[in-house]
Amino acid sequence: MPKQSGIRLAKRLDEVGFSDIVQIRNKVMELRAAGQQVHALHGGEPYFETPEPIKYAAVKALVENYTHYAPSSGVMPLREALVKKLAAKNKIKVTTDEVIATVGGSQALYAAFQAVLDPGDDALVFSPYWTPIRDLVTGTQARPLLVPTTTARRNGIRKTLEQFSTPNTRAIYYNTPQNPSGLVFTRAEAEEVAAFAKERDLIVIADEAYEDLVYEGEHVSIASLPGMLERTITCYTFSKTYGMTGWRAGYAVAKEPFMTALRKIVLYSTNGVTTFVQQAMIDALKISEAEIAAHREEYRKRRDLLVSALNEVGLKCEPPAGAFYAFPNVEKINKNSKKAAEILLEKAHVATIPGSVFGAQGEGHLRFGYAISVKEIEACAEALRKFRG
Ligand SMILES: Cc1ncc(COP(=O)(O)O)c(C=O)c1O
Repeated sequence: MPKQSGIRLAKRLDEVGFSDIVQIRNKVMELRAAGQQVHALHGGEPYFETPEPIKYAAVKALVENYTHYAPSSGVMPLREALVKKLAAKNKIKVTTDEVIATVGGSQALYAAFQAVLDPGDDALVFSPYWTPIRDLVTGTQARPLLVPTTTARRNGIRKTLEQFSTPNTRAIYYNTPQNPSGLVFTRAEAEEVAAFAKERDLIVIADEAYEDLVYEGEHVSIASLPGMLERTITCYTFSKTYGMTGWRAGYAVAKEPFMTALRKIVLYSTNGVTTFVQQAMIDALKISEAEIAAHREEYRKRRDLLVSALNEVGLKCEPPAGAFYAFPNVEKINKNSKKAAEILLEKAHVATIPGSVFGAQGEGHLRFGYAISVKEIEACAEALRKFRG
C-alpha cells in the first residue's frame, strides 16, 4: 500500500462543507462592481445599526481598560444580567453557573454539538434548517437526520420524529423562530418535541436566535417546559435583537453535565468573549422591551410589504410568523432553486438564497431576507413586477 502523505486533514472535516451563501455574496459584489444595481435580499443582518448606548458602553470599557483577560465563561455582572433576562423573558430559571457568554450564537451552537455528539450518533434536524447546522453536526462525525417540517406539522410532530429517529439518535436541534422559513413552532408543538425527547431520553439543542421576532403567536423556550431544562442546551445571540452581528456576542444556557463541557470548549477555542464586548453586552441587556417591540413592528411592516409583492407576482407565500425571511415557492421560475436564484439575479437583479442550501426540503423555494429598508423592499417589488412582465 502506498504510504499516505502526512500533509492531510483530520478526517472529521471530510463531511464539513463551506457556506454556499458566500458564492452568492461574491456574485452580488461582481455585479455591483460592474455598475449594476442589485436588490440585496440574500442577507440576514438587521436593518438598523447597533444602538448608541451599546456602542458608547464598548468605548467606555476600552477607555477604562477592559482590555485584559476576563473569566472565560463571562464576567459575573454579565452572567447576572443574563440570569435575570432568562427568568423574565424565557421563563428559564437558572443560576449564574448555568449561563456562559459565547462568541456569537455560532460558538454556542458549535460548543453544544461538540459537547454532546459522538462519532456514529444521529441528530434529528427539522428541515429546511439554517445551513451551518448540518456542518456543525457532521463536524462531530455524527449524522444529521433531516425531518421535513411541513410533513411533521401535517402528520404530527411526535409521530414524524419517531419515524425519522434511529436507535443511535442522541439529540434534536430545535430552532424557533426558524431560519429560513420564518416558521414559529406553537406551544403545543414544543410540548410534543419535549414529550418525545423525554420518552427517548434525548438532548435538545435549542436555537432561539430570533426569539424577539415573533409577529403571530408566542415564543416558547422549550427549556421552560416541565422536565426540559436538564436535557436542553439553549443558544442565544445578540446579533439579531440588538443589531450586533459583527460584535460576535452570544450565550448558552444549560445545566450540568453540559455546562462543564461548554466551559472547556469555550476556554480552549477563544478563552471567552472579548472583555470590552462583555461590558457592552451588559448595556445591551438594558435596552427596553419597548425599543425591541418598535423594531419588531418595523420588521412586520417590511414583511407585509414583501409578502404582498411576492404574492402579486405569483410567488405564493404565507406571511411568515417570525424571524426576517420569506420563503416562497418559486417553481414557476425554475424547479431547481439554484437556477431560479440565478435567473432572478440576472434578470431582475434581485439577490436571494436558493432553498436547496437549507436542505433537500428547501428545494423549490428561495429565501428573501427583508431586514432591509422599506425603500429597498419597494425597489425590489418594482423589479419583481417588471420581471414578471
Ligand atoms: C438560526 C440561526 N441561529 C444562529 C445564528 C447565529 O448568529 P450569530 O453567530 O451571529 O450570533 C443565526 C445567524 O444567522 C441563525 O440564523
